[in-house]
Amino acid sequence: MADAPEAPDKSGSRIREMFSQIADRYDFMNHFLSLGTDVYWRARAVRFWQPRVSGPALDVCTGTGDVALALWRHDRGGRQVWGTDFTHPMVRLAARKARRRTRQAERWRRPLPIFLTADTLRLPFPDDAFALVCVAFGIRNVEATEAALAEMTRVCRPGGCVGVLEFAVPTWPPWKQIYLAYFRHVLPRLGQLLARNRSQAYHYLPSSVAVYPQREDFCRLMESAGLTNVRFRPLTGGVAVMYRGEKPSA
Ligand SMILES: C[S@@+](CC[C@H](N)C(=O)[O-])C[C@H]1O[C@@H](n2cnc3c(N)ncnc32)[C@H](O)[C@@H]1O
Repeated sequence: MADAPEAPDKSGSRIREMFSQIADRYDFMNHFLSLGTDVYWRARAVRFWQPRVSGPALDVCTGTGDVALALWRHDRGGRQVWGTDFTHPMVRLAARKARRRTRQAERWRRPLPIFLTADTLRLPFPDDAFALVCVAFGIRNVEATEAALAEMTRVCRPGGCVGVLEFAVPTWPPWKQIYLAYFRHVLPRLGQLLARNRSQAYHYLPSSVAVYPQREDFCRLMESAGLTNVRFRPLTGGVAVMYRGEKPSA
């Protein structure tokens, strides 16, 4: 495979179709292909993104809701958590997972997360509505990264946090080479097999990561969206990176 793969097609209709096709196997595939590390990454990110101000939290591109549910579990203050995604079958699964936690929610006296079908580029919320606005493994799939960051910043309240968790390519050898061999050659075949050949999603994954801004480059995009105190932390040798920035107080 060439070192500089072509930018993949990220039109909204294509992305929605792709995730609709794999929705019912998405959680299994995530846990299997990452050997369960994705659960640890989300838990770490939720702690890294803790906002300094109070208020509700929003997880955009929520998929089957794992980050929204991690926020809900982690937060002892009982803040309302929302999750949005434009692929309806993913949102349906997220809502089902939340309903299964009804008893726990009653015991903990916490409101269950609310899931809505919505485009990250046109969030149906007023300005400054959330203390935390986050996205995990989703912003790379949105057609326009800068516009998505701007929209997330718009609905974040001053002093609040905008958080991102995203795949990256490790920088140090030989881990970089081992990882790239798995990511480019093993993962797409395994994904295709286990997702029962329904989609090109696991071919799309490595190509979308390879051409996506990472680390300092991604921090610059967050700063351009108006965020300050932007920083990042690599996870698992740089396979994933968590970012956070703050919306300046007025
Ligand atoms: C790889 S999944 C990530 C799901 C989840 N955040 C997680 O941690 O597993 C990417 C999700 O982004 C959603 N997505 C992509 N572009 C979107 C957009 N413009 N608006 C809303 N959701 C979008 C897809 O529907 C998909 O569910």
